[in-house]
Amino acid sequence: MSSSENPSHLLLVDDEEGFRTAIAEQLAEQGFVVEQAGTGELALERLAEFAFDILITDLRLPGVDGRQLLDEALSRYPDIIAIVITGFGTVREAVEVTRQGAEGFITKPFQFEELRHELNTAIERRRLRAENAYLRAQLRDRYSIDGMIGRTPVMMKLFELLHTVAATTSTVLITGETGTGKELAARGLHDASPRRAQKFVAINCSAIPETLLEAELFGHVRGAFTGAVVNRQGRLEQAHRGTLFLDEIGTMSPALQAKLLRVLQSREFERVGDSQTIRVDVRVVAATNSDLKKMVESGAFREDLFYRLNVIPIRLPSLRERRADIPLLAQYFLDRLAKETLPARGRVSVSQEAQQALMAFDWPGNVRHLENVIERAFSLSPGRAQIEAADLPEEVRHAQTPRPVDELELPEGGTVLDDEVSRYEHGRIRQALARTNGNKRQAAELLGLKRTTLIEKLKRLERR
Ligand SMILES: Nc1ncnc2c1ncn2[C@@H]1O[C@H](COP(=O)(O)OP(=O)(O)OP(=O)(O)O)[C@@H](O)[C@H]1O
Ligand SMILES: [Mg+2]
Repeated sequence: MSSSENPSHLLLVDDEEGFRTAIAEQLAEQGFVVEQAGTGELALERLAEFAFDILITDLRLPGVDGRQLLDEALSRYPDIIAIVITGFGTVREAVEVTRQGAEGFITKPFQFEELRHELNTAIERRRLRAENAYLRAQLRDRYSIDGMIGRTPVMMKLFELLHTVAATTSTVLITGETGTGKELAARGLHDASPRRAQKFVAINCSAIPETLLEAELFGHVRGAFTGAVVNRQGRLEQAHRGTLFLDEIGTMSPALQAKLLRVLQSREFERVGDSQTIRVDVRVVAATNSDLKKMVESGAFREDLFYRLNVIPIRLPSLRERRADIPLLAQYFLDRLAKETLPARGRVSVSQEAQQALMAFDWPGNVRHLENVIERAFSLSPGRAQIEAADLPEEVRHAQTPRPVDELELPEGGTVLDDEVSRYEHGRIRQALARTNGNKRQAAELLGLKRTTLIEKLKRLERR
């Protein structure tokens, strides 16, 4: 979490589904990004997957109860703002949970207004206290990179790695599917490095015709080729003392690969048409979404260059591998759109139903894809304070329908088998319920399950 962000990502835990859903909708309307859990066990799972800002939990839950949950949440995230819902007349419990570290409590039954008030007061109290918490903020900075959103464990680890690597000058190779944020990570790396005051120079190897790429990279002298009427610095020289970002490195020709190899070995090169050797101090970061190792095997990419580039490999996870970040990213893009294009519209949030569809979709184009879908939904819902499922493209809305596994290729970066299995289960259960008009006993029979097992699975899957 960057310190400028509002604390808005909220986990709501209550075993009464109707009550919980109603509160969740109202909180979402207030601009909170809400996820729900119906049991303490599920809540623990969600907490392990994502660093929530706020926890609102009923004290009395079957199994893992509210106090255990509070303990676990606070030990994992000492900064989490916890509000506990207690039963009527149990003042002692309220005092106890406050002592335990809850920021506030509210007794059932209550009006939504009361909860809203309690929550806002808690956030405000926390804000005042946090202004002095300089050290804590520094610690948190280690787990964030400017402009990069993510609070799942894979992203936290990535941020930490980027900070560690930023302190060195080693060459970095960033890999990941399209739209996973490779360029963003390269910039983040530069901005977190001691070179941040110098230039970050990016060059996209696939966007420049191969004949021009060499001169672009190394510069040229007057008369080096037709059209070279003056001496010109290349990107390498421009990046002196800074960072050179070689994007789509997999498309580089063999001849240039050889020249780049020399630069990486000695930091030396000549401008095109010149014999004078130039030395530079550059940090090289390369990125690719092709499998360079395979390209090495097939002879399309130099093996020696691959090892020179791959000193520190950084792999960006696909969005499928960090679904828990989807609501956060969606809200981030909405806030940015609102600020940039329509400040008068106020905060736009995502309905619970739309959020579930977003989280179930596979996002072949990853974060860029999500960004586009959100922008489209934002434009298609003028004046409204919430994005609804109907504002999402067809394929996203119907994301929950499972496809046969044999038709799916195992993604290059692997998969999250549990997610896949859940989606499959969900699809089958929905089909069975549709065929039996929602009769759970008959649906369970169709699937060879006990009725209670089906109900349990349903509860679990609803949260995904
Ligand atoms: N973690 C993130 N937080 C916020 N925005 C992100 C994140 N990751 C990616 N984006 C956004 O998604 C878009 C694509 O990111 P970027 O260009 O860095 O991806 P890429 O991996 O370089 O993609 P490609 O392989 O297609 O070049 C950008 O608009 C970027 O701002
Ligand atoms: Mg890119």
